[in-house]
Amino acid sequence: MNLPILQLGDDRLRQLSQPVADLPDPEVQALIDQLLETVALSNGVGIAAPQIAAPCQIMILASRPSPRYPTAPLMQAMAVINPQVVAYRGDQVLGWEGCLSVPGLRGLVPRYPEVEIQFRDRFNQAQTLVLQDFVARIFQHEYDHLQGILFCDRVESPEDLISEETYQKLMEAQSGSQSDEHPA
Ligand code: NI
Repeated sequence: MNLPILQLGDDRLRQLSQPVADLPDPEVQALIDQLLETVALSNGVGIAAPQIAAPCQIMILASRPSPRYPTAPLMQAMAVINPQVVAYRGDQVLGWEGCLSVPGLRGLVPRYPEVEIQFRDRFNQAQTLVLQDFVARIFQHEYDHLQGILFCDRVESPEDLISEETYQKLMEAQSGSQSDEHPA
């Protein structure tokens, strides 16, 4: 089932998500499956539970090349539950982001190039991972969703928000050189 994705202006995108208390609960497992399916069908590279009106601390990281993100690296889609940031590393880097909840818009967003995280996987195992570059960017974007923050809140100037159409033209103009592409 591909659930409707909440859109910018919906108050539910602005609430704080709660930690998952009972990860083996079949309802929680079904929610993870719904998120995996929704992100796959939407050509997204990530999604957070509040985007489908579930205010809990679950995100999917699913970087892969797609029409929305042609240069995204390929990874196995992964559920990240109750994430905590251990450390951000490096100087923030600007990159273009989009969001399934903010259709038609792209923004130039500063993010750290490396982030170390602790979380539970869907089998309730504690995990530690160091994420870099594009996947680190996706994580930071989805982590923001869990705090009710959207990428458009993060741009340094209103001029760093552009239409999807303008963005596509910009990418076409830059094609040939490796473009910096983004979430989620
Ligand atoms: Ni998003």
